[in-house]
Amino acid sequence: MSRILAESGNADGSFRSNPPQGTCLYGITIPPTGGDTLFVNQYLALEKMPPELRKRIDGKRAVHSAKNAYAPTGFYGTGDKGRSMDIRPSDDAQATQTHPIIHKHPETGRECLFGTAGYIIGIEGMDQAAGWDLVSEIYRWQTRPEFQYRHKWQKDMLLMWDNRCTLHMATGGYAGHDRLLHRTTIGAA
Ligand SMILES: [Fe+2]
Repeated sequence: MSRILAESGNADGSFRSNPPQGTCLYGITIPPTGGDTLFVNQYLALEKMPPELRKRIDGKRAVHSAKNAYAPTGFYGTGDKGRSMDIRPSDDAQATQTHPIIHKHPETGRECLFGTAGYIIGIEGMDQAAGWDLVSEIYRWQTRPEFQYRHKWQKDMLLMWDNRCTLHMATGGYAGHDRLLHRTTIGAA
């Protein structure tokens, strides 16, 4: 995950038809300061959501796509050079996929918000401007500090999280230091 998109928060692979269940990160080189990962509880974000906002998203589906990130014309496309991560731009990234904004977690059966602005590029059945306004409003709500947990890394620490009910966000603050983590994505069943 490239840093700028990662810092805006995301659910990994939400643009896929069958998004990953979870993600693992293993800390190899941890900088002395910065580089925390924020997790945002999407059960809580939905539970505490003002009824007026919830009413406007109930039953709606978000349009997800990787095109703003990984398509050749996207932010990390062919014009983007010099990143340490090997990101391969692809026309496949132009594809879109819809998912309910409020989904039921397949294991817990509890409802929560799924995905966020970044991979979400609009709302099905709404024009682009109105849809984006709503996506932005959801983003501002679902990433509020009271729903967040800040994870501080140590070397050899393995973290696993459920991609279906959380968002995660990278933070910077370690300029001049190396930071290396290995990621494994847990595929959908
Ligand atoms: Fe990610």
